[in-house]
Amino acid sequence: MGSARSWVWLFSFLAFLHTALAATRSFTIDYEHDCFRKDGEAFRYISGSIHYSRIPRVYWKDRLLKMYMAGLNAIQTYIPWNFHEPSPGQYDFSGDRDLGHFLKLAQDLGLLVILRPGPYICAEWDMGGLPAWLLKKKDIVLRSSDQDYITAVDKWMGKLLPMIKPYLYQNGGPIITVQVENEYGSYFACDYNYLRHLTKLFRSHLGDEVVLFTTDGGSLGYLKCGSIQGLYATVDFGTASNVTACFEAQRHAEPHGPLVNSEFYTGWLDHWGERHWMVPTAAILKSLNEMLSMGANVNMYMFFGGTNFGYWNGANTPYAPQPTSYDYDAPLTEAGDLTDKYFAIRDLIKMYKEIPKGAVPPSTPKYAYGVVPMKTLRTVSDALDLLAFSGAVKSLYPLTFIELGQSFGFVLYRTTLPVDCLTPTPLSSPMNGVHDRAYVSVDGVAVGILERNKVISINITGKAGSQLDILVENLGRVNFGKDINDFKGLVSNVNLGSNVLTGWLMYSLSIDEAVREGRLQKEGSVLSAPAPPSSLSPPTFYAGSFVIPDGIPDLPQDTYIQFPNWRKGQVWINGFNLGRYWPARGPQVTLYVPANLLSTAAPNNITILELESAPCDPGPCAVEFTNTPFINATVTPTLTRPRRLQVKEDLL
Ligand SMILES: *[C@@H]1O[C@H](CO)[C@@H](O)[C@H](O)[C@H]1NC(C)=O
Ligand SMILES: *[C@@H]1O[C@H](CO)[C@@H](O)[C@H](O)[C@H]1NC(C)=O
Ligand SMILES: *[C@@H]1O[C@H](CO)[C@@H](O)[C@H](O)[C@H]1NC(C)=O
Ligand SMILES: *[C@@H]1O[C@H](CO)[C@@H](O)[C@H](O)[C@H]1NC(C)=O
Repeated sequence: MGSARSWVWLFSFLAFLHTALAATRSFTIDYEHDCFRKDGEAFRYISGSIHYSRIPRVYWKDRLLKMYMAGLNAIQTYIPWNFHEPSPGQYDFSGDRDLGHFLKLAQDLGLLVILRPGPYICAEWDMGGLPAWLLKKKDIVLRSSDQDYITAVDKWMGKLLPMIKPYLYQNGGPIITVQVENEYGSYFACDYNYLRHLTKLFRSHLGDEVVLFTTDGGSLGYLKCGSIQGLYATVDFGTASNVTACFEAQRHAEPHGPLVNSEFYTGWLDHWGERHWMVPTAAILKSLNEMLSMGANVNMYMFFGGTNFGYWNGANTPYAPQPTSYDYDAPLTEAGDLTDKYFAIRDLIKMYKEIPKGAVPPSTPKYAYGVVPMKTLRTVSDALDLLAFSGAVKSLYPLTFIELGQSFGFVLYRTTLPVDCLTPTPLSSPMNGVHDRAYVSVDGVAVGILERNKVISINITGKAGSQLDILVENLGRVNFGKDINDFKGLVSNVNLGSNVLTGWLMYSLSIDEAVREGRLQKEGSVLSAPAPPSSLSPPTFYAGSFVIPDGIPDLPQDTYIQFPNWRKGQVWINGFNLGRYWPARGPQVTLYVPANLLSTAAPNNITILELESAPCDPGPCAVEFTNTPFINATVTPTLTRPRRLQVKEDLL
């Protein structure tokens, strides 16, 4: 049969191509000459971190191109598991989650890729990238040989790694190395069987050729539990560390092979209520120069930070959540703008390798759309029928978010006062069980805020039978250290005086859906009780809209939204959850609004959930779009805990 013969021909031809390709494309470790080898040639990477999950897809190319033009020959990215598997077995690799497209863009621009698929990634990302639904097993030991954890990891990696395989360098793609786990030596479990299991799992899906590696802090203590036979050990450290000493630590684990700093910190992470961190360019140049002159491989973390849109930020302990901006004081700003740091690093790289010719793409223009008046919609309590259409779950004692089947956002806990509280009576969470912030009202009147680790008791008054509403906000799950099993909601009982409160109704709120579908706008009546300014109001929705002006070329452009005299809340633009604002705490004041969210075809809709108090009743109240970011406001000193820059122990 003719067709059978042509199939045979085709297969032989493909087999030949494959062999030819494999022969020309290789990426290996040369232990004799202490370097990587790419296609047989000695190779050193100068790389930068960029997380696709923190950038709108339309800007991926712009950011990658700017990195390429800085002289980088590689990028490094994390894959957040919870970004791609929102509920067990339900995968999303579309739109802003289209990992394959991101890898292809990098390759098309001439960038190699250092891939860090986890399963745990830290990254100042909710729960270090682990899906919250893993906590359905209450006593699960994450990042260990725990059978349920391993089953979920095997299933996820069974989906992810085969997708990655065609993008490996030797298969024609951009991926030169793949990291297994992440700073495992900083985790208490020290479970070598877990690392061995992951090694086998990665090998079984990716093959024997690919360079697999680990990353740990630059001292023997970290490498002890973080490194293991079969995975190449690398280290990470910033400008405050001694380069020689850190690489000596790597040499202890890897007597031969390339020197690698997998995370050289160009900046540092922020927390709400703590001052914005900056790392001076001079210090970066000094350490970077030292590493490059030794022939070391360096990945700059971050080269471009981006944004924790929606609810994606993580937190450290004692509980301190990270803000919406992940600017990181990186060489490219949150909006992808060029900085002096960028050009200084580029000039340094120029001394070690050729950098691409041609102009660096410019920073994107920003536009100040101005003041947008907001009108009051309704309180969360008044909108329950629109937000919780499946109704309430009843329980004697409060249930956690995960027990209610919810991962992110807000849950309303409702009960009644069991006794008259005619004098101020403490409403308290003795076990520090408010995770993470609770907005309390009695009969619709806001009476106070409970906050994890900060405010575990407030005084309230009210009559027996009064309605007690506690709206609990998940402020982001712990992403580092032993406390990553971070349950949300009321995770222990709430007391009123000496009474344990019981008989709860719990409303799982689908706020994002309601905002996207415009449900909150449908009935215009204002139901919220006016409150004097500066005191608390119950959590309330507000809405406003603005039109992109005519006659100005190249609009819409990027912008920043700020909230004069607003306190704390969540903001959506045209249904997209931009993130949290909290100017009352700082240091972030403005939120980055990428142009792709804005429309010239219809008025742009802003929805706000203000949790504490809006400047609206009495008005006027407004938000404002400016062309300048402000992420380094002075913070209230009492909220600041002493932390050293770039020292991870301080984050525990
Ligand atoms: C850095 O570490 C090396 C090796 O441990 C040591 O010899 C050197 O004195 C250190 N340098 C500084 C400035 O501490
Ligand atoms: C609550 O009220 C009691 C006395 O009524 C007072 O001693 C206590 O300090 C108050 N607590 C708070 C948190 O305001
Ligand atoms: C804003 O909301 C209005 C009313 O629901 C709608 O007609 C319009 O299309 C929305 N604008 C955008 C950009 O989606
Ligand atoms: C914030 O950063 C800007 C730009 O780097 C700087 O000009 C300003 O002085 C800083 N403000 C504060 C309060 O640190």
